[in-house]
Amino acid sequence: MKYLLLISILFCSPAFAQQKIKPDAEKMQWFADAKLGIFIHWGIYSVNGIEESWSFHNKNISYEKYIKQIDGFTANFYNPASWADLIKESGAKYAVITTKHHDGVALYDTKQNDWSLVKKSLAKRDLIAPFVKELRNRNIKVGTYFSLLDWSNNDYPEFLKDSVRYKLKSDTLRWQRFQRFCQNQIQEISSQFNPDLFWFDGDWEHSAEEWQAEKIRKNILAHNPKVIINSRLQGYGDYETPEQNFPIKKPDFKYWELCLTTNNSWGFQPHDTAFKTMDEIISIFTDCIGNGGNLLLDIGPKEDGTIPIQQQNILKELGKWIHKNEEAIYNTTAGMPLGYYYGASTLSKDSATLYLFVSNKNAGNVVIKGLENKIKKASIVSSQKILTSKIVGKISWSNVPGLVFIKMPEATDDKYFSVVKIELEGKLKLYETENKK
Ligand code: GLC
Repeated sequence: MKYLLLISILFCSPAFAQQKIKPDAEKMQWFADAKLGIFIHWGIYSVNGIEESWSFHNKNISYEKYIKQIDGFTANFYNPASWADLIKESGAKYAVITTKHHDGVALYDTKQNDWSLVKKSLAKRDLIAPFVKELRNRNIKVGTYFSLLDWSNNDYPEFLKDSVRYKLKSDTLRWQRFQRFCQNQIQEISSQFNPDLFWFDGDWEHSAEEWQAEKIRKNILAHNPKVIINSRLQGYGDYETPEQNFPIKKPDFKYWELCLTTNNSWGFQPHDTAFKTMDEIISIFTDCIGNGGNLLLDIGPKEDGTIPIQQQNILKELGKWIHKNEEAIYNTTAGMPLGYYYGASTLSKDSATLYLFVSNKNAGNVVIKGLENKIKKASIVSSQKILTSKIVGKISWSNVPGLVFIKMPEATDDKYFSVVKIELEGKLKLYETENKK
């Protein structure tokens, strides 16, 4: 009875209703340790600098005009080595590039149809393979973004927001033809690039059964059992992918990654100059890793293959900050839950060192509540400056811990966020009240 109740609770909760896969911890380890990835949205939409795929789907531009952008795509200055250098410099451990967005135009030499930059644009070459090679040379893991839905394919039912080519149920043969096409493209990506990670998108237009999601997963893993698959495969993925922000609490999945634009656009849109500040980016990044997730930060190169200077600067600046604070970032786990410290924190894998991320905008004292351990030493990671701490409000006869006040230095050499390293006596132990009766 007890088990029946447990099972029904588990399966009624939304996470379990959706996720059909129990991720393999060993396979997921590099991902959990990576913390930062770089997302790349590159495609014909960068020619006019308009929204990727959605601009024709939502009828902001006609399909004919949208697809005509293919004539203006040159990749003239595309330098995959310098892209990979920049990614390395950012501190990212993996990159995910669009092999095909919802518009159906592949960036690699697909044999399944003519819709590729290889066959139809002046670029005339596979743009994915050389990039994959450069990433591998630098020991950066390779992720391939692939849109299941394909609004350019005549066998695909959906097209514009208010029109469909046909109803799936009315022509199952046509749909089967599309399924074969889609599965063949996935096979091509597996065998040509052998990615470490498959980043699916566009699953929402059809069910797991319609996509044959289970079969897609099986085929990918048959080629390489180590591949990590994101959640946008109707429940058959290994990790969750919130987009742009995660409200308050981390997602329920054990593994997750927030994908985030640097301005408000995934692809290159020159009119969009609303770039996030470094303070904002670091704040979001530390919030992700403090909650046990990764950040997948997006860039949108121009049609000629150059990366907008603002995005180059963001990646370089983030890399500098990460480099100074590495020990608090890579190979850590989620820090203290909400309430113990009003900011993000991480924890070393042996649970004996806490790292607090402190915005320089609110320097002064930082406060930790409910810390049961004694502090051996507190210091700033980048400068190794020793900090003093004080216990406030400890009642001698009660086992409720006092508040720890740590005094921040007047000036630090961290422009954005300082990282406070707290070496504890023993493994982190937090006082629990109501939750633990
Ligand atoms: C959305 C959009 C797409 C973008 C993706 C990135 O699903 O459809 O344009 O590529 O998010 O996460």
